[in-house]
Order: sequence, then structure tokens, then C-alpha cells
Amino acid sequence: MYHPALFSGMNVVVTGGGRGIGLEVARQFLDCGARVVVHMGRTIPLDRPDFLDLAAGEGRALLCSADFVETGGVQVLADEVGSRFDSLDVLVNNAGTMVGRFPAAELTDEEYRTILQLNQTSVVEMTRAMLPLLRKGAHPAIVNTVSISARTGGSAGSSVYSATKAFVATYSKALARELAPEGIRVNCVSPGTIATDFHQRYSTPEKLEATRKSIPLGRLGTADDCAPAYLFLASHALSGYITGQVLEVNGGQLIC
Ligand SMILES: NC(=O)c1ccc[n+]([C@@H]2O[C@H](COP(=O)([O-])OP(=O)(O)OC[C@H]3O[C@@H](n4cnc5c(N)ncnc54)[C@H](OP(=O)(O)O)[C@@H]3O)[C@@H](O)[C@H]2O)c1
Repeated sequence: MYHPALFSGMNVVVTGGGRGIGLEVARQFLDCGARVVVHMGRTIPLDRPDFLDLAAGEGRALLCSADFVETGGVQVLADEVGSRFDSLDVLVNNAGTMVGRFPAAELTDEEYRTILQLNQTSVVEMTRAMLPLLRKGAHPAIVNTVSISARTGGSAGSSVYSATKAFVATYSKALARELAPEGIRVNCVSPGTIATDFHQRYSTPEKLEATRKSIPLGRLGTADDCAPAYLFLASHALSGYITGQVLEVNGGQLIC
């Protein structure tokens, strides 16, 4: 665990923070002293963890919801952040999912648009909306969630999703160069196969077990395994000379 004051006084936004990887990232930023706008997802669930309500009650967390696939959905969140923060130190663009497994010949226009809007366009929109606040932050950093599938191509039915993650990785590298003169760093965390709701929806137990056997460290990852990488890349003290990089968190599933 990082020092409890590592992000003391800093303003952080985490998207897709209602469950899975984003929830653990939000928890660890809160534990390290940050004020966090936690975008919980499309809704604010009633059965949320106690630590979020405690932090919200103390004014350290603001819980909000926005559907990034709906027209104007990202702007709803951007407006919430603007009403809460005068400046932003860390933006974590994490919301996303595969949406479904779609064989290439059967993919509908609507499915294609949904996968792109959620995993790709929303990252561009949120980044654009947050840049004025980030420019007022102290040593600002953007950390985007990509995926091992951006490098491997993913598995059957995930071609468009995997390509959106490759887009975000490349977008982040270009942005890192563009924003470096302003002192804004941009990096990515690339999770491997992480045991969250994500795979409960899109992968069978048999597929997950076969994947587990292929992972050199011998197990699937957890949100706990991923979150420290986000805090590391967000912290000027820990990674102030790192920008434009993708940090792979996958137990050795991809070594190249
Ligand atoms: N788990 C893995 O193995 C893995 C591997 C590589 C990359 N990733 C990436 O890691 C990130 C987090 O994944 P996870 O495993 O933590 O998945 P998760 O548990 O399914 O969480 C996904 C988050 O994204 C939000 N989201 C989904 N659709 C949305 C929409 N239309 N508008 C706004 N928010 C939406 C969800 O909110 P709702 O509750 O509203 O759905 C939820 O908060 C994603 O970008 C994912 O692609 C995951």
C-alpha cells in the first residue's frame, strides 16, 4: 500500500468506478488522501460498498452516474466534475466493456457504434472535456485503461472491442507527446485476464481455466493486482519521468 498522504489534497476522477478494477482504483486513491469523483457507471447501485458512502459523507468522494453510450452522456459527467472541482490532478478513463461477443459477419451497425462509443469515443470526449481543469492541476496525469487484447487481438468475437483498446493505447501515446510541454503525463494500464464481472459475462469457466493455465504466475488477476499500477502512473513522485507508456498487468500472460 502506498503512503496514505500520497494524493493528499489532490482531485481525481475515476470512470467506471462502481465495480471491478475502477472500484478498487477509487478505493486506493481515497485511502491515499485524494478527493475523488467516482463515476459509478450508468447508475449508482444501491448495494455499494460502505467505504464509498463513508467517503461521500465526509465530502471526500462524489458519486455520480452517466451512460457514456447515450448522446451527451459524457458531458453529464464532465458537468458534475466541473461543479465539484476547480482543477484536476488525475483523470482515470476506465469505464468500458466488451458489450458482447460478436462474430464479424453478424455484427450490427448498432453494436459496432455502441462498442466504439463506450470504449473509444468516450475516452476522447472525457479527455477533451477535462483538459481545461487538468491544465490547472499540479503535475497532472491521465491514466487510461486499455487491455492485453490491444496487443494480442483478443479472442473470438472481441475484434472491435480489442481494436478500440489499441486505439486508446495509440491515442494515449500521441497525447503524451502533445501534452508533455504542458507537464501533463499520459499513460495506460493494460490488464490481462482479471476476475471481475467482465469475464463472468463474456467468458465461460472452461475458457477462464484454460487461460489460467497459460499464465506463467498460475492464476487470473484481481482488481487488487491492477490498482497500484494506476496510482503509480498517476503519481508525479513515483513516475514523474514516465509518459506515453503502457504498463502490462497480466501475470506474464504476455511477455514480449
Ligand atoms: N476484467 C478484465 O479482464 C479486463 C481486461 C482488460 C481490460 N479491461 C478493461 O478494464 C476496465 C474495467 O473493467 P472491469 O473488469 O472492472 O469491468 P466491470 O466490472 O464490468 O466494470 C466496468 C465499468 O464500466 C462501466 N460501464 C459499462 N458500460 C457503461 C456505459 N454505457 N456508460 C458508462 N459506464 C459504463 C460499468 O458500469 P455499469 O455498472 O453501469 O455497467 C462499470 O463501472 C474496462 O475498460 C475493461 O475494458 C478489463
